[in-house]
Amino acid sequence: MKITVIVGTRPQIIKSAPIIYEALKSGLELKIIHTGQHYDYKLSQVFIEEFNLPEPAVNLEVGSGSHAYQTGEIMLRLEKYLLKDKPPLVLVPGDTNSALAGALTSVKLGIPVVHIEAGARCYDMSMAEEINRRLIDHCSKLLFAPTLNCKKNLERESVIGEIHLTGDTMYDAFLKFKDEADRSDILKKLQLSDKEYSLLTLHRAENVDNPVRLRSILKGILKANIKVIFPIHPRTANRLKEYNISLEHSNIRIIDPVSYVEMLKLLKHAKLVLTDSGGLQKEAFWSQTPCITLRESTEWTETVEAGVNQIAGADVEKIAQAIRAIEERYDEMKKKFIGNPFGDGYAAKRIVKIIESFMHVINF
Ligand code: UD1
Repeated sequence: MKITVIVGTRPQIIKSAPIIYEALKSGLELKIIHTGQHYDYKLSQVFIEEFNLPEPAVNLEVGSGSHAYQTGEIMLRLEKYLLKDKPPLVLVPGDTNSALAGALTSVKLGIPVVHIEAGARCYDMSMAEEINRRLIDHCSKLLFAPTLNCKKNLERESVIGEIHLTGDTMYDAFLKFKDEADRSDILKKLQLSDKEYSLLTLHRAENVDNPVRLRSILKGILKANIKVIFPIHPRTANRLKEYNISLEHSNIRIIDPVSYVEMLKLLKHAKLVLTDSGGLQKEAFWSQTPCITLRESTEWTETVEAGVNQIAGADVEKIAQAIRAIEERYDEMKKKFIGNPFGDGYAAKRIVKIIESFMHVINF
């Protein structure tokens, strides 16, 4: 009766790591299935090693492809393992195609789905992640909401499963690894010093698969004339080549994707972060680094309401202006990092307790 955890991408490994630790501590048996959505060492295996997680029992090796290909192919490949293993529960973290495929395959086999990071909403259905998380929430039996906002979203949508407000497992991971991050030598390696650079990440399809938006974002950043470090996602690196965009001899310095602790270190010492990632907006908040979100909306509205995350979309002027605003009001902005709507660092503990009592009921 092993609980199955489905991972496939970088953020899913981070989100599930604290739960895997807690589950193993309390004697729950787990089987990790990796879908193979991320296959580069630096997007996947590096995190499994860094978090010291058990190696996935299976890799479905789905690789890259269209949304239909990835989702459909994961479902086909996963189904035979779920039919053989008959897990009592399947855990799916986040909002990726791997998570959606895991949830759909399980629910259709009658296996209860547990959604980690349930209820996040940005109300923009042009984003693959928004479609995925909505569908996952509506077929989950246990929904673990990281914030009160997320819980309210789920209540408003009248989801059928049980909603539990637990806090964010990404915050658990952040607390566990922040001291190790302090010891990372990434700044030395890159010859960077505290607050003399800004950090950029960019990988969302709606930004990087659109040459007009991609150019406009980069133009906005270059206009502000600041020094930027850019750990690049392979998808974005491919697009830059395809669109003939070169950042050589500019203030934006491209580096390879970094590990989790390296990212935490880079975040803590950056003057500001520019990103289209969901997770990084939260990690910037916990690192007390002002953030500019390169999207039209965010699911982490708490950080915007706190006044430390500005939504700039892909607009040249808005991006340049947001950077200037942080530079001019940096000390004032730093004082706004008060409280934490993402819990107390014990989300995984709560989640495992609830899973244990759920297992008692189904084994009764
Ligand atoms: C996926 C998730 C996104 C998450 C992100 C984290 C979906 C719809 N998107 O986006 O929510 O924030 O992971 O990184 O599930 N590629 C490689 N090597 C890899 C993986 C990808 O080169 O190991 C390249 C390929 O060119 C591929 C492209 O990146 O076509 C896109 O990869 P994919 O996994 O489809 O989506 P991500 O952009 O990584």
